[in-house]
Amino acid sequence: MAKYPKIQDQVQEELSRVIGSRQVQVEDRKNLPFTDAVIHETQRLASIIPVTSHRTSQDVTFQGHFIKKGTTVFPLMSSVLHDESEWENPHSFHPAHFLDKDGKFIKRDAFMPFSAGRRACPGEGLARMELFIFFTSLLQNFRFTPPPGVSEDELDLTPRMGLTLNPSPHKLCAVSCI
Ligand code: HEM
Repeated sequence: MAKYPKIQDQVQEELSRVIGSRQVQVEDRKNLPFTDAVIHETQRLASIIPVTSHRTSQDVTFQGHFIKKGTTVFPLMSSVLHDESEWENPHSFHPAHFLDKDGKFIKRDAFMPFSAGRRACPGEGLARMELFIFFTSLLQNFRFTPPPGVSEDELDLTPRMGLTLNPSPHKLCAVSCI
């Protein structure tokens, strides 16, 4: 959020208008469309698990390609989360991907950071709840800014490559707003 001060303003405005200073609850999500869109867009753009791996349990023909039983396949999550035919701005942070023209939250079929099918992430419900409660509680209480002398543009969001994509370490200021 430190990199996107205007978006942070909009999230904090929505939180203060809808929730005020009480503790956020999971049921509040439906009344916080902008905040929800920001969380979804963060997961989409960050694509923290860019690749999964599976082995075919039977011969299969997929999009005209024959794949023999027992073949290891690596589904590329980023190919969906950053698909140029699905997203208006696939490589930018653009919460409007998840909002209609009236500012209501919209689900997008290509949003699948937890993968899809029988072996999709079983922790999805817990993870989504935690992301919502942590993110809203932090933004209710703190304003995030770059450290003195650093501009928003200088904050580098290039991830550290590994099995998962992690943020590179950088300093931030969290200024209490209560
Ligand atoms: C933002 C947080 C998380 C993301 C983005 C995420 C994403 C994923 C993805 C993409 C997979 C691979 C699915 C596939 O192979 O097709 C996966 C698998 C898995 N996740 Fe998560 N996950 C998250 C949090 C969690 C949490 C909190 C738990 C447990 C409490 C969890 C437990 C698991 C397990 C056990 C698997 C393996 C499932 C299997 O192989 O059948 N995940 N996750």
